[in-house]
Amino acid sequence: MLSLEKVFLTLGIESSCDDTSVALLAGPRRILSWKISSQIERHAAFGGVVPEYASRMHLEAILPLTQTVLEEAGVADPAKQIGLVAVTRGPGLMGSLLVGVMTAKAYAQAWNVPVLGVNHLEGHIYANVVDHEDLQFPFLCMVVSGGHTEIVLVRGCGEYEMLGATQDDAAGEAFDKVAKVLGLPYPGGPVIDRLAVAGDADAFSFPDMVHHLDGLNFSFSGLKTASINQVNRLRQKGETVPLEDFCASFQATVVKTLIVRLEQAVRLTGVTSVAISGGVAANSAFRRAVAEHEGWNPFLPSKMFCTDNAVMVAAAGYAAWQSGRRGGLGLAPDPALDFGEDEVVGE
Ligand code: KG4
Ligand code: ZN
Repeated sequence: MLSLEKVFLTLGIESSCDDTSVALLAGPRRILSWKISSQIERHAAFGGVVPEYASRMHLEAILPLTQTVLEEAGVADPAKQIGLVAVTRGPGLMGSLLVGVMTAKAYAQAWNVPVLGVNHLEGHIYANVVDHEDLQFPFLCMVVSGGHTEIVLVRGCGEYEMLGATQDDAAGEAFDKVAKVLGLPYPGGPVIDRLAVAGDADAFSFPDMVHHLDGLNFSFSGLKTASINQVNRLRQKGETVPLEDFCASFQATVVKTLIVRLEQAVRLTGVTSVAISGGVAANSAFRRAVAEHEGWNPFLPSKMFCTDNAVMVAAAGYAAWQSGRRGGLGLAPDPALDFGEDEVVGE
C-alpha cells in the first residue's frame, strides 16, 4: 500500500472541451485514481459540441467527480496530502475552461495548496510521459486532435519548439466533418477508423497537400473539401458511397500526410524518438504506421490517454512544478492560449 504522506500528489483537472476529467497522480506517473465524464452522447444529437451546453455539464460533473477521485485514492485530508492542483487553462472553450479553472482555484484556496495552469497541448505531450518511463528528452511529439495538428520538438519540460502546425483545419476536424457528410455519428474519427478496417485504401484518391506547403506545416481543408465533393458527385449520379472503401482511402491519405511530416521532422532534427498524442493518435492505421516505421523509436500513449483526460494534465503540471514553474490565484482561462505563452522556453 502506497503511503500518501511520502509522495507528491497532484490533482489534475481537465474541462477544455466536452470531457470533464479529474485525476490524482502520485509523483510523475503513478495514477491513484482518475475519472472522466464524457458529454459526447449529449452533443452527438447536434452533430458537434455546443459550447454553452458543455459548460453547464462540466458544472454538474466536476465536484462529484473530484470527490469520487479523492475518496477512491484514500485522500482524507487534501489540505495536508495534496501538493499541487493543476488545471487546463487553455486553449479551449471559454465557458468550459472557466469551470475547471474556477474549481481548481477554489480547491487550492480552500486547501491552501498551490495551483498551476497547464496548456492543453503540453498536457497531450505528457500523456506519453505517463505511459513511458523510458521516454527521454529530446523527443518529437505530434499532437493530432480535434483542435490541433502540430509537431513539437520537446527538449525538456517547458522547452518546446514548434516545428509545424496546421494552417486551417485540424486532422480530427477533417475526420469529423467528412464523417458528418457521410451521415456517420459524431465524433467521426473512431467511426471512420472502424469502417476503414474492411475497406480498400486505394479505392479513392485524394489530394494530400504535403508537397504544396512550406516547411512542416499542414493543411487539411483541401482534403476535406475534395472528400465532400466526391461524396456529392457520387450522390448526384445516384450511386451510394461505398463507406468502407471511402473511409479507408480518406484515412490513408491523412495518415500518409502525418507520416511524411514526421519523417521530415526526424531528418531535420536528427531526433528519432517519435511520440504521438491527441484523439487522432488513437487511430489504428496511424498507430500502426508509427509503431512499424523503420528507424524510429516510437512512443504511443494508451488509447484512453490519447483523447482528453486529466491524467495528462496532472502529469504536465507536476513536471512543470518540479522544473520551477509557479502560478497563483490570479490564474485565468485563455481560450486562445498560444503554445508559446508562459511555458515555452524553446526558440
Ligand atoms: O484530443 P481530443 O479528445 O480532443 C481535442 O483536444 O480535440 O480529440 C478528439 C478528436 C476528434 O476529432 C475525434 O474524431 C478524433 O480525435 N479521434 C479519432 C479517433 N479517436 C478520436 N480520429 C481518428 N481515429 C480515431 N480512432
Ligand atoms: Zn485535446
